[in-house]
Amino acid sequence: MSLHRLIYLSYARAGIGYSDLRDIMDKSEVNNAQAGITGMLCYGNGIFLQILEGNRKMVNQTYHRIVQDHRHHSPEIIDFRAIQARNFPEWSMKLVQLDDKIPDNVKSLILKFSDFHTFSPEQMTADQCFHFMKELYDLFTLG
Ligand SMILES: Cc1cc2nc3c(=O)[nH]c(=O)nc-3n(C[C@H](O)[C@H](O)[C@H](O)COP(=O)(O)O)c2cc1C
Repeated sequence: MSLHRLIYLSYARAGIGYSDLRDIMDKSEVNNAQAGITGMLCYGNGIFLQILEGNRKMVNQTYHRIVQDHRHHSPEIIDFRAIQARNFPEWSMKLVQLDDKIPDNVKSLILKFSDFHTFSPEQMTADQCFHFMKELYDLFTLG
């Protein structure tokens, strides 16, 4: 079955905290590694932006499990397509928090792909979301 990627955004439940994020990441790392899923989860301003890549059936199953989670709501699929190759091969899932304390190079990437200095994926196109996360990945993995 062909390799696909899915990008969606969702809104965090009020009061979500460090232990929720830690739990999400612990489960994601284990489940995604088993399912051959790779990707990234950005979190900032109460919004999640996630990319999942892998086998189409596995990406669908994972997405449908995630959207049942009460720690977020109102998911919107931004993009779903077949891909030639993975873009996040080294991460079963990686959390990137985009709050006030982010370094300048990450701030510059937010501005590069959106009209605001603040992380606002609901204002971004599918291409902008993808390239933003891809350049973040490059920043982390290539240094
Ligand atoms: C924003 C968000 C992203 C998540 N991403 C993943 C993910 O990539 N993989 C995953 O297995 N679970 C993810 N989860 C957690 C799932 O919703 C669910 O709690 C978990 O998969 C259950 O795992 P378990 O059946 O092993 O207990 C995410 C949850 C949220 C709120």
